[in-house]
Amino acid sequence: MPPEMATTSKAGADGAAANGGSGGPVAVLVIHGPNLNLLGQREPEIYGRTRLGDIDRALKQLGRELGLKVETFQSNSEGAIVDRIQRARGRARVLVINPAAYTHTSVAIRDAITACDLPTVEVHLSNVYAREAFRHHSTIAGIVVGRIMGFGAEGYLLALRAAKRLIETQRAAAGA
Ligand code: DQA
Repeated sequence: MPPEMATTSKAGADGAAANGGSGGPVAVLVIHGPNLNLLGQREPEIYGRTRLGDIDRALKQLGRELGLKVETFQSNSEGAIVDRIQRARGRARVLVINPAAYTHTSVAIRDAITACDLPTVEVHLSNVYAREAFRHHSTIAGIVVGRIMGFGAEGYLLALRAAKRLIETQRAAAGA
């Protein structure tokens, strides 16, 4: 048994829900990368005044309306993000991720997404193409289903609606 499956009964319950096996809501994992814990205070002219807690609450509320179980995670550490993606393997149906600065550098996060075979929506609060050239490159752009940027905090909610659509498309393809 993989170690993460042996840890808590909650993990098992989440797994069943993520796969729709229990008939419960399907899980979507939302990951926020480094410095996004400072949203609302950090460069508000670029990233807006909405705090991360407010974004997470809005995501969970919209998730309830859409019949999705939304799990959120923020870390400033690349390894912790890789670990969280790996734990979602076979459990979450879609990944929504704003890798923040790691967008531009992280092969490890790209590889984790590919290894876990998770359909992914990439989110950025700002329009990275209207900013410095080093922000124009994304290591994950070529492996995600789609990218949403430039709409501030609203982008996460747009991404969750996109996730819902992806899940419906998967179900239709599976003949469910
Ligand atoms: C960001 C854009 C990145 O370039 C930056 O490093 C961030 C946030 C965005 O959401 O606009 O931290 O991902």
